[in-house]
Amino acid sequence: GVAAKIAPSMLSSDFANLASEAKRMLSLGADWLHMDIMDGHFVPNLTIGAPVIESLRKHTTAYLDCHLMVTNPLDYVDPMGKAGASGFTFHVEVSKENWQELVQKIKAKGMRPGVALKPGTPIEEVYPLVEGEHPVEMVLVMTVEPGFGGQKFMPETMEKVRVLRKKYPSLDIEGITHIYGNGQVDGGLGPSTVDVAASAGANCIVAGSSVFGASEPGQVISLLRKSVQG
Ligand code: DX5
Ligand code: ZN
Repeated sequence: GVAAKIAPSMLSSDFANLASEAKRMLSLGADWLHMDIMDGHFVPNLTIGAPVIESLRKHTTAYLDCHLMVTNPLDYVDPMGKAGASGFTFHVEVSKENWQELVQKIKAKGMRPGVALKPGTPIEEVYPLVEGEHPVEMVLVMTVEPGFGGQKFMPETMEKVRVLRKKYPSLDIEGITHIYGNGQVDGGLGPSTVDVAASAGANCIVAGSSVFGASEPGQVISLLRKSVQG
């Protein structure tokens, strides 16, 4: 189904207090915790890896929605599975050759496979993965260049979400979005970027700086949910 999943990006949390930040988000209504894994190679930033997921897993049973911005996702499947990751979303740009093997291994480790694409990558590139014998179960349409939180939403990426939703009515489609605590727009495009993303067909909403930067993060989470649920 296409239930709303609100996933605060822990990239904008205080990494030194990750467990309490995670619990705070869950108590405020988050469905998933979005974990940004970066290798300093696929993207020009370095964050956390399997050891930190393993540590966090000891403090929560929540769905850990792991977004792997790494050049060699295959190397991460075993460690992430052992660490207790729930979702394993890799980038299509680095998985052209081996995505079938990758998806099978992710599933064998008990994780839910997803594929992400950068703003400049055509949507057609993920079709084979959604339609494959071992299909991915989520498509993450990036609305900023991967690597950093707090960037400006790219509305032109919404066309990809629209096309994808039309083609796959029940697929989980994740979008990274921005919305400020007061519900105003980031970039001046309509009532709010989450509404644009939700009406295009995104049902899983990743929001980092807008949630963690708000004085009332719980209000932002419920606003995001309302936008998806209509
Ligand atoms: C960017 C990450 C996103 C990011 C979202 O590389 O994949 O998850 O943290 O954060 P905001 O909402 O601040 O853009
Ligand atoms: Zn992410």
